[in-house]
Amino acid sequence: MRKIDVSLTPFWRICPPSSIVLVTCITQDGKPNIITIGMNMPISAKPPLIAIGVSPRRYSHRLIEETGEFVVNVPPKGLVKQVILCGTISGREHEKFEEAGLTPIAASKVKPPLIKECISHMECRVAAEYKCGDHTLFIGEVVATHINEGYLKGGELDVLKAEPPSHRGRYYFTPHLIFKA
Ligand SMILES: Cc1cc2nc3c(=O)[nH]c(=O)nc-3n(C[C@H](O)[C@H](O)[C@H](O)COP(=O)(O)O)c2cc1C
Repeated sequence: MRKIDVSLTPFWRICPPSSIVLVTCITQDGKPNIITIGMNMPISAKPPLIAIGVSPRRYSHRLIEETGEFVVNVPPKGLVKQVILCGTISGREHEKFEEAGLTPIAASKVKPPLIKECISHMECRVAAEYKCGDHTLFIGEVVATHINEGYLKGGELDVLKAEPPSHRGRYYFTPHLIFKA
């Protein structure tokens, strides 16, 4: 197979996708917001850490910096329209919970709410923040976790049931089983 050189911007168009998450954050006076995040990755088990990449241009960037807290919510495929909406409008001018028809419910240890319609949730406190080119890498210490009853399989998220969406460009898709080890 011949390899061809391409110079794509952004280069991650040829990287394998991760699932998309809905990250909730909140203003200091208690107004919640939602941002769609493709750049997310668990990076440490002890202590439990998860990394998200957020552009400083996002309204959510300021909220996460100001409060030092966020929640990573994992949507099922049925929320794909809300995922796109929360990733194309800004909390500067929009009430995303209301416009997306999503329901905020109180988290147990942080101020940003969980999204009721999502499947699993990681409540996070910012443990570190790094400027990475045109994004900021927020490292969240996971201080509480929740999952919908019936979605744990062998102690893990049942991805084939939850069907969390991933995307490349305009295509959104869900995981398919290819092998059970
Ligand atoms: C599928 C998808 C994935 C996205 N991933 C990211 C991401 O990882 N980091 C980021 O800063 N913005 C990402 N965005 C863009 C933000 O979600 C978008 O700019 C959003 O409107 C910002 O909202 P805010 O201004 O309320 O914070 C993504 C958008 C979509 C649709």
